[in-house]
Amino acid sequence: MTVNQTATPLHALTSRRSFKFLRAPAPKPDELEQILQAAMSAPDHGALRPWRYVVIQGEAIGKLADMALDAVKRSGDPRMTPEKEKSVREWMASVPLFIAVAQKIAHGNTKIPEQEQLLAAGCSVMNILNAVHMLGYAAFWSTGLGTYVEEVQDALGLDSLDYRFLGFLAVGTPACAVPPAKRPDYREFVTEWTGAA
Ligand SMILES: Cc1cc2nc3c(=O)[nH]c(=O)nc-3n(C[C@H](O)[C@H](O)[C@H](O)COP(=O)(O)O)c2cc1C
Repeated sequence: MTVNQTATPLHALTSRRSFKFLRAPAPKPDELEQILQAAMSAPDHGALRPWRYVVIQGEAIGKLADMALDAVKRSGDPRMTPEKEKSVREWMASVPLFIAVAQKIAHGNTKIPEQEQLLAAGCSVMNILNAVHMLGYAAFWSTGLGTYVEEVQDALGLDSLDYRFLGFLAVGTPACAVPPAKRPDYREFVTEWTGAA
């Protein structure tokens, strides 16, 4: 990470990229507080605060690996071969911080469609990814590791009746130099509407 990468707020946004291979140090406790507080500044129709986070660090990461991998194996996922398990365990052992991400479903709310709640939760996560980057760390959002195995979210205290589990953020210091990401030209994705013909 060079100072230049986050020299201006806009440059900080455009230079962010996901990076999976992480190591210690994780953000310091006060930095983690800032990162999680940034997540509270997401746009949020109806002020439902539909995002929830579970911080997993230190020895709990090994316990997460045991819990999630056992649940995935029990679910019968054929992709969880012994080789895959070994590489996931190695990867997790090097990551100093995980943040599990969920949407709290506002069941009784008839005004705000659930997709808007999901979008607000996604925006909140984006603030985390940007804050991590702005503080000089890196992160990777993954829906591997049993995100779609109910037992995993239940074990994290995110009952599937009330929460939609959205995966894990791995957070830490890049294990090697991170090359800039190639991004598409916005013109491929943007049109201008100038009124009905
Ligand atoms: C909700 C969500 C889940 C994701 N899950 C995975 C995953 O399980 N495995 C993976 O390789 N990438 C996954 N990705 C993609 C990476 O987190 C990352 O965004 C991608 O590699 C592109 O990098 P970038 O963020 O620098 O553009 C996921 C992204 C999102 C938004």
